[in-house]
Amino acid sequence: MTSASIVRTSTAELYDAHVMKNYARPSLTLVRGRGAQVWDDAGNGYLDFTSGIAVSALGHCHPHWVAAVQRQAGELIHVSNLFRNPNQGELARRLVGYAGPGRVFFCNSGAEADEGMIKLARLHGVQKAGGEEGRCFKVIGAKQAFHGRMFGGMSATPQEKIQKGFRPLVPGFAFGELNNLESFAALVDDQTAAILVETIQGESGINPCTPEFLRGLRRLCDERDLLLLIDEVQCGLGRTGKFYAFEHAGIRPDVIAMAKGLGGGMPIGAIWAGGRAAELFQPGSHGTTFGGTPLACAAALAVLDVIEREQLLAHVTRESVAWHEALGRLVQDFPQHLAALRGRGFLVGVQMTGDPAPWLAALRERGLLAVSSGNNVIRLLPPLIASAGELAKSVEIFRAALAAKT
Ligand SMILES: Cc1ncc(COP(=O)(O)O)c(C=O)c1O
Repeated sequence: MTSASIVRTSTAELYDAHVMKNYARPSLTLVRGRGAQVWDDAGNGYLDFTSGIAVSALGHCHPHWVAAVQRQAGELIHVSNLFRNPNQGELARRLVGYAGPGRVFFCNSGAEADEGMIKLARLHGVQKAGGEEGRCFKVIGAKQAFHGRMFGGMSATPQEKIQKGFRPLVPGFAFGELNNLESFAALVDDQTAAILVETIQGESGINPCTPEFLRGLRRLCDERDLLLLIDEVQCGLGRTGKFYAFEHAGIRPDVIAMAKGLGGGMPIGAIWAGGRAAELFQPGSHGTTFGGTPLACAAALAVLDVIEREQLLAHVTRESVAWHEALGRLVQDFPQHLAALRGRGFLVGVQMTGDPAPWLAALRERGLLAVSSGNNVIRLLPPLIASAGELAKSVEIFRAALAAKT
């Protein structure tokens, strides 16, 4: 084929023709990023307060992250889990440093981390039942939860829009009301192996667990020999100003699922397990080809380096105060459009009084990217490196969009 015969096709046309249709996307093609900014193919710049749905913790192309990934790509990218690699060992050590004594299993996404957690719950149930399978396997989760799109996590996600079309689901899940300890306690029986919650529900409108509720779940799990499984895939890795969001409640789970921000854009997920739960996986009981590659772990190590060196936890805690205050003023000033503000740190949901889609478009037109969550909520997820100026700018853009439609 000569170059003259190659027909240039736009990205939009390529998507229309060849990419599966499971996303209703705005017509925007992003081609470049730096810090909290991204640019589209027409050269327009945007403040990226989606962070690729809480992934790009360091913003785009942080120099330390880029250098670490480039160095590792030229050295060793993948060896599988048939062999050790130094980065995986070091990353496990660093994560154990944050979570407490225990062990880490690496995978590639939040959904995989949640599947691994659910498998640990099953193995714990088998131990509880004296080695017999199928007697103790129930996991109690929360209404409106989101635990990913694979069969275990999807079965733990009691939302019609997620489960529709995929039944029969994995059996053994029951659901209590978030922040209603009694509703969880009432579901626990001899078949129950674990309790599973997100510290802050990220996909259903930014609904945080209260500290009292989390502490109550911890007590309940201790009393009934249940594993407390905490999904920190979205709210973890510094997004709330603590490394894990449950730290605000002063508890330690038995198992933690994490992903998203861990790799700063490189796909990587992990589960940490402590105590007896750390020993449940034995050779052959679980595995992955890609999980914990030298490259993915180098990226995650670079994320941790920057979180520590640039003191990003303190930064998120400090800068979110003025940002939340300014967003709170928007709620006061535009009660006809904004109903409430929820969340913590750099994980914020603005509850709108109506459909958020036109508002997301209005923000986009003015140079701010945000993402919806649940019913009528606009979710703002700045990268952890976002400056006071960038946070203030996001409120300015939001205010201008609201003022234009009022
Ligand atoms: C709390 C939570 N768990 C699990 C997942 C699934 O993660 P992934 O999309 O990486 O599979 C998500 C994704 O949004 C999430 O927010």
